[in-house]
Amino acid sequence: MKLLVANWKSNPLNTDEAIKLAIETDKEGVVICPPFIFLESVKENISNAKIGAQDDFWGNTGAYTGEISWKQLVAMGVEYVILGHSERRKYLKETDEFINNKVIASLDAGLNVILCIGEDNQTRNKGINHAKVFVEQQLDRDLVGVRDIKNLIIAYEPIWAIGTGQPDTPESADEMAKHIKSLITSRYPLSVSVLYGGSVNSKNAKEFLEMGNINGALVGGASLDAAEFNKIIDLAR
Ligand code: PGA
Repeated sequence: MKLLVANWKSNPLNTDEAIKLAIETDKEGVVICPPFIFLESVKENISNAKIGAQDDFWGNTGAYTGEISWKQLVAMGVEYVILGHSERRKYLKETDEFINNKVIASLDAGLNVILCIGEDNQTRNKGINHAKVFVEQQLDRDLVGVRDIKNLIIAYEPIWAIGTGQPDTPESADEMAKHIKSLITSRYPLSVSVLYGGSVNSKNAKEFLEMGNINGALVGGASLDAAEFNKIIDLAR
């Protein structure tokens, strides 16, 4: 089965709603990534899905006000972490250097890292080759000093496709996934799984999931509606 990562972002409103949604989407092959405040309750209420965080901090436990350390996630039994999401790059001004520190610390800690990369609209409008160069540069900056990539997953998420209802075409997403895989195999002795993210829903998921270079999907909005997400889960099987 292909991997489905549910990125809940800053949803839902409270723990009761989080537990309900988690129970309704608790299926094998799914990684549920709730906000930090719901991690523990969600984890306690699922038995088939895996649990992931939407971010972490590279420091150990200590004086890092407001941050959640990789070490705290590991202690809680969290297995996955999303890093470098474009919303964090945009709203929190996260730099590649920040993200690189998190990737290194999280991989060292044994977490499965879902590293998000993808080009903006302006770049894509210049053509897919420009997007490929953008993605390559981002990948190189985010992976500086990373040696062991066995727990690394890449999510290709073109920024213009996230939350817009305008997904990439399955063909170009597949081409980008192939490009990312070849960049990785030219730098490491291992290959990597590549997910597609950006306006995936139950109507278009099949086309993406059928693509040979796409190993799954990172789903935002459509993961918040249990009926809708369950349709995607069925397609991923
Ligand atoms: P979306 O979000 O599915 O709502 O476009 C995807 C993501 O940001 O991971």
